[in-house]
Amino acid sequence: MTDPTPDVPPPHRRRPRYRGTHPRRFEEKYKERAFEQYPELVAHVRSRGQTPAGQHVPILTEELLGVLAPQPGERGIDCTLGWGGHAERVLARLAPGGSLLALDVDPIELPQSETRLRALGHDERALLVRHTNFAALSKALHEVGWPEGADFVYADLGVSSMQLDGPARGFSFQHDGPLDMRMDPRRGPSAAQWLARVSVPELRAVLRDNADEPYALAIAQALAAQRGTLDTTTALARAIRHALPEHLPKAAADLSVRRTFQALRIEVNHEFEVLDAWLRQLPGCLRSGGRAAALTFHSGEDRRVKHSFQQGLRDGTYSAVCDEVIRPTRAEQRSNPRSAPAKLRWARKA
Ligand SMILES: C[S@@+](CC[C@H](N)C(=O)[O-])C[C@H]1O[C@@H](n2cnc3c(N)ncnc32)[C@H](O)[C@@H]1O
Repeated sequence: MTDPTPDVPPPHRRRPRYRGTHPRRFEEKYKERAFEQYPELVAHVRSRGQTPAGQHVPILTEELLGVLAPQPGERGIDCTLGWGGHAERVLARLAPGGSLLALDVDPIELPQSETRLRALGHDERALLVRHTNFAALSKALHEVGWPEGADFVYADLGVSSMQLDGPARGFSFQHDGPLDMRMDPRRGPSAAQWLARVSVPELRAVLRDNADEPYALAIAQALAAQRGTLDTTTALARAIRHALPEHLPKAAADLSVRRTFQALRIEVNHEFEVLDAWLRQLPGCLRSGGRAAALTFHSGEDRRVKHSFQQGLRDGTYSAVCDEVIRPTRAEQRSNPRSAPAKLRWARKA
């Protein structure tokens, strides 16, 4: 039987229009986002120390592989899949016969990363992908049938470049977008909703505790005065700048805006609570001799990882932990400025 509907050509899509010779806005960078079709352009963007739109450049990759030492046939857990840059390299070391369980709390980026990794040939046996918060690590392990634990577990904390650069996610003051900041937009209040009902003392404490913001009180008062109207990233950035002393140099004002965004993101995603929960479960999710590693991006995270690993060494949970943090080389920082604040710590289960 013939199909009664005639062939309808797909609608003609114009490429996004932009001013000047180069696209500037995320939505205009359609070639970078179609990275597989334009490898030269992506290489060119990377050579300028930038992250192509819609991608994430993995950080401290060789160092992470060095401390995890994945072996063929082993089981590992990537608790923060993101773009899958680390996972891609780890998967290559686990073959043949090994498996990687990959978790991420982001329901928007996760399916795209899974598709990318499957296209590289990793089937359901080699790569198990679960949409879950790493605060539920033990549960995820039981659900995939690994109750005895894994040979190694790692987490690369914070947000990915895809999340940071996507204006619709509302993580960055450099792009105008809705003030959301949720890694899982289906759960909990957005940053705008949270700001609309927070008190001045609570907001001040969040700015101070999550980001060491020196102008925490002035910013908290200014944001409370505009309660209910701060629903875009640019509106929030403007309100923060207005709250700062007039004489403040632009670089210092930018830092306060950056710190305030960071503090709100940590709050909206309960980042310290889930990190504490992950650190508590970590030893129980590792086999004897198993390796753990965490990549952190600010002092609040690093302090928690350091204390947990050192406490574990003292009480005999871990047989060895790093003495010093591992930092990106100057070359890595030059080629990927987003790597600059990264710190890597590791521990080995007794
Ligand atoms: C820095 S990126 C990871 C990048 C990844 N290592 C790579 O090479 O592409 C952090 C990722 O962790 C995810 N994430 C952050 N907190 C999480 C949590 N509590 N549970 C699960 N995933 C989380 C974010 O959604 C994001 O995709």
